Amino acid sequence: MPAKVDMDKIVSLCKRRGFIFPSSEIYGGLASCWDYGPVGVELKRNVKEAWWKAIVQDRDDVVGLDTSIMMHPGIWAASGHIDNFTDPLVECKSCHLRWRADAVEGKKCPNCGGELTEPRMFNLMFKTFMGPVEEEASMVYLRPETAQGIFVNFENVVTTSRKKLPLGIAQIGKSFRNEITPGNFIFRTREFEHMELEYFVKPGTDEKWLDYWVKERFDWYVKLGIRKENLRLRQHGKDELAHYARDCYDIEYLFPMGWSELEGIANRGDFDLTQHAKHSGKELSYYDAEAGEKYVPYVIEPSAGVDRSVLAFLVDAYDEEEIEGEKRTVLHLHRSLAPIKVAVLPLSRNEKLTPLAKEVFNKLCPNFVTDYDDSQSIGRRYRRQDEIGTPFCVTIDFESLEDKQVTIRERDSLAQIRVPIGELKKVIEAKLKGEAFDASTLWATRQK
Ligand code: GAP
Repeated sequence: MPAKVDMDKIVSLCKRRGFIFPSSEIYGGLASCWDYGPVGVELKRNVKEAWWKAIVQDRDDVVGLDTSIMMHPGIWAASGHIDNFTDPLVECKSCHLRWRADAVEGKKCPNCGGELTEPRMFNLMFKTFMGPVEEEASMVYLRPETAQGIFVNFENVVTTSRKKLPLGIAQIGKSFRNEITPGNFIFRTREFEHMELEYFVKPGTDEKWLDYWVKERFDWYVKLGIRKENLRLRQHGKDELAHYARDCYDIEYLFPMGWSELEGIANRGDFDLTQHAKHSGKELSYYDAEAGEKYVPYVIEPSAGVDRSVLAFLVDAYDEEEIEGEKRTVLHLHRSLAPIKVAVLPLSRNEKLTPLAKEVFNKLCPNFVTDYDDSQSIGRRYRRQDEIGTPFCVTIDFESLEDKQVTIRERDSLAQIRVPIGELKKVIEAKLKGEAFDASTLWATRQK
């Protein structure tokens, strides 16, 4: 079953409406790098906030962390990234393009037909230099995952948070991978954001916690509006497990190019803490006072990509509908993810309407991300708000000048209710929380 929208439509909507632009566009762009525009940055922030709320704020067994992107190079030797984070590549002897060995059939370059070299291992970590001298000693890597910043702070967090196991440490931040085959818009890029949780547990309870987190994470996407039929779970075969993993499940989403990984949930066992203890010389174990024993905790790791989640939410929300003979494109984004919560739209740019419309905007914008637009016909402005997924439009018309009431139009049902300006904040607050709302008490002029 193919996804209901192709990627070109999503890319075009993102560009047209200010979600995502190609990076460095006026210089011709930079392959696989993207910039989030005014609407996209709000959506991305909302995805991260929803994750943080579910993983950190709503729980008493998880704390947050924000570690540096550049870390001691010894960390990547210990984690196995220097030895194992590699892909076999072949290079064309004529045009010098490189290809993943398993993506090329035969011995000829797919670009120019030239002869290819034998496969060589290529490390996916970006390197840079710290300090003024470009020498081996000052070389550092840009992190390819945020996880290692968590493992090397395990001791700091356990002692300062005074929490017992099971204990999770969560982090959101940029990661960098020199991917050989980036593509599919923001699905696979060389710079992206991770949302990672390392959940430290007593060995022997790890399988139970893996099941728990697989379910939690699956449900998170569903609660935020992704259709269940567009999600599935896939357990890794023994031959595809990462070098650190004892077990792993992918949550896959039906992207426009087909089923692909959205998030991985791995049982990393005690691999990372043991490796860092060995390489740093610092013991990284936990004294379990209740059990009266010391052990190296096992780790369950739900690891999601912010950008890949943004793409899944966009694809799943996208719809083209026909309303009274006219086509409308709409993003049915969950209200907590919608970039703009309310748009204030005076019926027209009119000197009598503007002061009241501005007054309404000023009332709403400290409480919700609010847009003000009086630029074109009301129909075109509704269409723009539908395309960026704004759940509520507030229209101010000439009657509003008399009765101090405005119309709220709902994105999905297209229902309209009229409410007094004094009640507007309360009504929108309730609607954004998803509370069933009886508007009948608010009707004044229309009920007469
Ligand atoms: N710490 C474990 C880890 O990083 P991963 O499966 O390599 O595991 C986890 O990555 C998630 O990060 C993926 O499911 C995906 O959502 C996101 N991700 C990984 N590489 C990415 C890339 N090049 N571009 C965008 N997102 C990426």
